[in-house]
Amino acid sequence: YAIVDLIRRKRDCGTWTPDEARWIINAFTAGIVADEQMSALAMAVFFRGMAPAELDAWTEAMIATGSRLDYSGLGRPTADKHSTGGVGDKITLPLTPLVAACGVAVPQLSGRGLGHTGGTLDKLDSIPGWRSDLPPARVRAQLEDVGGVIVAAGPDLAPADRKLYALRDVTGTVESIPLIASSIMSKKIAEGTGTLVLDVKVGSGAFMKDIDRARTLAETMVRLGTRAGVRTTALLTDMDTPLGLTAGNALEVGEALEVLAGGGPADVVDLTLALAREMLAGAGVDADPAEVLASGRAMDRWRRLVRAQGGDPDAPLPVAREHETLTAESDGVIGGVDALGVGLAAWHLGAGRARKEDQVQAGAGIQLHVRPGDRVRTGQRLVTLHTDTPERFEAARRALAGAVTLLGPEGHVDE
Ligand code: URA
Repeated sequence: YAIVDLIRRKRDCGTWTPDEARWIINAFTAGIVADEQMSALAMAVFFRGMAPAELDAWTEAMIATGSRLDYSGLGRPTADKHSTGGVGDKITLPLTPLVAACGVAVPQLSGRGLGHTGGTLDKLDSIPGWRSDLPPARVRAQLEDVGGVIVAAGPDLAPADRKLYALRDVTGTVESIPLIASSIMSKKIAEGTGTLVLDVKVGSGAFMKDIDRARTLAETMVRLGTRAGVRTTALLTDMDTPLGLTAGNALEVGEALEVLAGGGPADVVDLTLALAREMLAGAGVDADPAEVLASGRAMDRWRRLVRAQGGDPDAPLPVAREHETLTAESDGVIGGVDALGVGLAAWHLGAGRARKEDQVQAGAGIQLHVRPGDRVRTGQRLVTLHTDTPERFEAARRALAGAVTLLGPEGHVDE
């Protein structure tokens, strides 16, 4: 095939045959299609989309650029969860040991932070000694022994995605439903899970700001997973307000530990249990995750999982060197806490990266002291900012301005 003709055809609203879609992925991975050609093609897809038959072939080809793992001989069912990313979304941390303690093995593939959204691997890196780059044989051994593992995608897992994502990241072509769906699902299908539950986030702090696009993304991913023989379901969940009371790596690990200990914010507990129920139902296991959480068995499993990956579950979590607390300037009621503002503030404080090669600060981030609907008095604490680099406070304060709205006694916005 001539790649320039295939780019032109997509640009002009035409479609590719399944063979052509497969060829594009293989030729790009082999270096026959140049980066600039693939970038132009990704932009054409951004504007024109892909028909189901094109996307199916494209995704299959992405999976086939690496190996597809198979855990059917494990002796117990497998289930994984994927969140499309949000602010304060630490659900994977309590969920993985909880579902493992219910008898379902969890080969949890996780990623790093992207923009203002956090990444599970960055959070776990704040545990002293923790490692998430395990080779496939270690992953399998840990699934047999502990029943859960949280790892980065290895080099043999849909390598076409790694190469394509790097281009999309720098060419403004991340936000395309077929490109996002094929990127996520190629990795999740190749990873070998039997059941997959998608947590598709909707709202200011999510990549999908409106419910219609979120629903289309969810339906597209469920169709790709189901076609590939993975029992796939999706929940659409709110990301207008951050999840829980923390955004930032070690701060979120601390909150996940509260959940595993039987406490923690109600929204984090509720979403953990809702996703656990979906995973257990998909895997065909009849267990009550609320009971398992309350029994302490999920916490026991967490400790085994952390130890198996080199971490010390008893080591103190890193704390940022500096903090600053913002307080209410008047009496009132909290009208809203905006996820995007909180996510950007945490990112400015050092919890996220400006460039891929940047380091994140383990202790940096935001701690909320209030939730929407809370009544506050003048001087009461609203938000604490944490960082090792106090020159970042100002940018974070600016990002937070207007994120926490305080309704005065007459219902008007004071802050
Ligand atoms: N996460 C992924 O893995 N791929 C995307 O395209 C977007 C988010």
